[in-house]
Amino acid sequence: MERARWGSNLGFILAATGSAVGLGAIWKFPYVTAHQGSGAFLLLFAVLTLTIGLALLRVEMSIGRAGNAGAFGAYRRLGGTAWGLVGLLGVLASATILSYYSVVGGWTVAYIWKTLTAELTRDPDTLQAGFAALAQHPWEPLFYHALFMLATVGGVIGGVRGGIEAIAKVLMPCLFILMCILIVRGLMVPGALAGVTAFLIPDFAGLTMQSVLDALGLSFFTLSLALGIMPTYGSYLPQSTNIGRAALTVALLTLLSCVLGGLLVLPPAYALGIDQGAGPGLTFVTMPMVFSYMPWGNFFGAIFFALLFIAALTSSISMLEVVVAFLMEHAGLSRRAACVTAGVSLFFLGVLASLSMGAMPALQWGDRNAFEWLDYTATNIMLPVGGLFTALFAGWIIWRKLQDEWHGEQTRSLITIWRRVLIGVLSPIAIGIILWNGLRG
Ligand code: PFF
Repeated sequence: MERARWGSNLGFILAATGSAVGLGAIWKFPYVTAHQGSGAFLLLFAVLTLTIGLALLRVEMSIGRAGNAGAFGAYRRLGGTAWGLVGLLGVLASATILSYYSVVGGWTVAYIWKTLTAELTRDPDTLQAGFAALAQHPWEPLFYHALFMLATVGGVIGGVRGGIEAIAKVLMPCLFILMCILIVRGLMVPGALAGVTAFLIPDFAGLTMQSVLDALGLSFFTLSLALGIMPTYGSYLPQSTNIGRAALTVALLTLLSCVLGGLLVLPPAYALGIDQGAGPGLTFVTMPMVFSYMPWGNFFGAIFFALLFIAALTSSISMLEVVVAFLMEHAGLSRRAACVTAGVSLFFLGVLASLSMGAMPALQWGDRNAFEWLDYTATNIMLPVGGLFTALFAGWIIWRKLQDEWHGEQTRSLITIWRRVLIGVLSPIAIGIILWNGLRG
């Protein structure tokens, strides 16, 4: 069967950016940045995203196109079965993350509804209790998790052009428009402009070696690297696409979204004196508090969670596509059968993650519950291991083939040499340190 193709370069760029811009950009990036010297961390994040991050993004897209297959097939075709395992690890990482990402996606759906209808409150304890009541409820989060997974399956079942690309073309512009509306509204809160300054002005004294590792890890996370996504999406590209330019556009749009995410969350929280470094679970506490101060707070709050939902959906679609492409190529399933098989099994894995948040305390091993184990295994182990081997693979095993993909790039130009050092030497070292650090965490 002939391989599916994107309808246009723009469609591909929007789909890849949709994968990248997810909960990472809007929820993780702002609080990590607020914690770590603000503008200085942002600068570091931007530099790492546009060097190591961009280089690996380009590599991953090229591996997919050169191998003309999903993650496992492409790595195997280019480097043999052993390297295929690196691609397979990406597929496993996507599957693992999708299972619990969908639970969080479900919370965003629940909060669209709750924010629209509930009476707003500023009391952090009430908000915290409201969030805990949802996350720990035995069946309510499962209902929303099911809805979110259904939407993800609905996006992938329509195929590359008719499903993923069509959805990205509608949702990504919506995402940017909603972000702009909320940023403008947030900046109207008295004192918010001072929050912008606090976000952007660099404080280099706040940076440590750990910040460099955190910035690189965050950059990998937001760019959706080592998940098999970019090889899979790249495999649907025609030869005529300039991958370097496409990757640069995706990286810049992702960076822009992170800055917009920061401008959205941090200034109003700063103005209202709410702790911005409040931590991951607290998007569902901090932001409702911010909206409680605004006229039309229910409306703007619901828009915020709709935005989070869209961001999460275009990312989860990309993760499901990796698994579906794998099942289609290696288990001989039709797209429809692959979507149902993957969607249902990952839904059930997510059910365990969700129940482990409180409804079933038995789902706890050592100091982590099922949700935290899935997250730890995927983000601290699978992603860095996959990234490390991808960098070594690209820099040392298939370097020549990649240059052909890059429209016959000159082997001896300074840029090419720098690129090879970046990909084959600096990236593996940096990722190796991240892996070592993550294993201790
Ligand atoms: N890049 C997306 C995000 O930032 O939310 C998708 C994603 C990547 C999710 C990596 C989780 C992950 F570990």
